[in-house]
Amino acid sequence: MSEKTYELEAESELRVEIPTTAELTLVSGAAEVYGTEMVVGKLYTLRATNIAVFTWKGGTIKLSGNAVDSPYVAKETPMLSYINVHAALDQRRTTAAAASGTGPRTMIVGPANVGKSTLAMILANYAARVGRRPIYLDLDVGEGAAGMPGTLTAMTVDRPLDIESRFARCKPLTFHYGHGKINESTRLFTLLVDKLAKAATRRAERDPVVASSGYIVNTSDLDKDMVMSVAAQFEIDVVMVLDNERMYNELQAAIPGSTVVKLTKSGGVVPRDMAAKEAARLSHVKQYYYGSPGQGALHPALPVVHFDDVSIFKIGAPPVPAACLPFGADPFGHETQTVPIKPTQDLVHACFTVSSAPAGWQDTEGFKLIETEGLGFVSVQNVDMEERTMTLLAPAQGMPALPCTLLLCEQTYSDASN
Ligand SMILES: Nc1ncnc2c1ncn2[C@@H]1O[C@H](COP(=O)(O)OP(=O)(O)OP(=O)(O)O)[C@@H](O)[C@H]1O
Ligand SMILES: [Mg+2]
Repeated sequence: MSEKTYELEAESELRVEIPTTAELTLVSGAAEVYGTEMVVGKLYTLRATNIAVFTWKGGTIKLSGNAVDSPYVAKETPMLSYINVHAALDQRRTTAAAASGTGPRTMIVGPANVGKSTLAMILANYAARVGRRPIYLDLDVGEGAAGMPGTLTAMTVDRPLDIESRFARCKPLTFHYGHGKINESTRLFTLLVDKLAKAATRRAERDPVVASSGYIVNTSDLDKDMVMSVAAQFEIDVVMVLDNERMYNELQAAIPGSTVVKLTKSGGVVPRDMAAKEAARLSHVKQYYYGSPGQGALHPALPVVHFDDVSIFKIGAPPVPAACLPFGADPFGHETQTVPIKPTQDLVHACFTVSSAPAGWQDTEGFKLIETEGLGFVSVQNVDMEERTMTLLAPAQGMPALPCTLLLCEQTYSDASN
């Protein structure tokens, strides 16, 4: 266990990679973590994460913890450009509020590992700090910060995110995607983005503060065509391109009605390999069931459900050769087809979205299982083929309410209780 105190000069940041657990205290001055202000004297416990403690005016930080990986203080940060962007967005929000109109619809794009999610969080926090209520739309399916990896989520941010638990207290609207990458099923992705866009429009219509606060859309590593498609679906008018000169130039020409802003990547962004991303996902899954320091410990339940009380589906059927398709059939229809799954031992450690589909639902023109909202998630702990039961890990007693429909996350994760 090591402990060290850092005196930060104005406009500098302390960057820390935390493989296990570390504790952080702002001893004096003022500082923020990704846009959320720290409270002087409060002990923050952080687990398996990378953070930057930034100060505009200077501050003293105490850091202690196990295996804190070589923290360092950086004087060069892009925070000035980020706050200028926030100020410009906020100016638009003020104008929109005065005219009872729609605020800036911002989307953050760029290659993998350039700090897109971090910038989205900073902008959402800055907006909430000045009393705005933007809609945060998370299309970063690899991370799934507000839901679970493999989901798309939307929520209004009406107060800065908690430093320790981030999105854990938000109650997002969730759609099941089931893949870690967008190119694994662009058809399903586009369909779900459409659902999110409609839901966001309805939400903004109900609340003028939400409408004038606009959107903040966090994305994964999208190519130019997908950026254009998503921008059109959300009627985006500000695109922020992080660390990609070529895409910046291409988008300027391709979406002339929008403001396209080029921003530089922070030197603090930690390049994460597949293993590091997988570890981050696992820690996120654990947090969903067991809670986090900021949220308090949760006491998950282990309901035993009978095979007859659950219907399990995965999204995506094997492709049918074009020659075998009936005339006029959609050649990509298989991508959004729901396929029933029979419980087997293979499901142990699988993670499911509990669908909001009512008991006895049927896919019709007006109702599609893949378009239903997720109520929460459960993981399979055990499958008893003799008794025909499954033991699930659920975040609360009474979840899932039976009978229920479960959607399989294509990626399976390790047991969250390990
Ligand atoms: N200034 C900083 N100091 C220290 N760590 C940082 C800083 N900015 C970002 N990070 C860390 O770098 C990692 C990558 O950042 P982030 O997740 O924002 O990138 P991304 O572009 O969203 O990645 P992906 O393409 O996987 O979605 C994260 O663990 C984040 O906490
Ligand atoms: Mg991201």
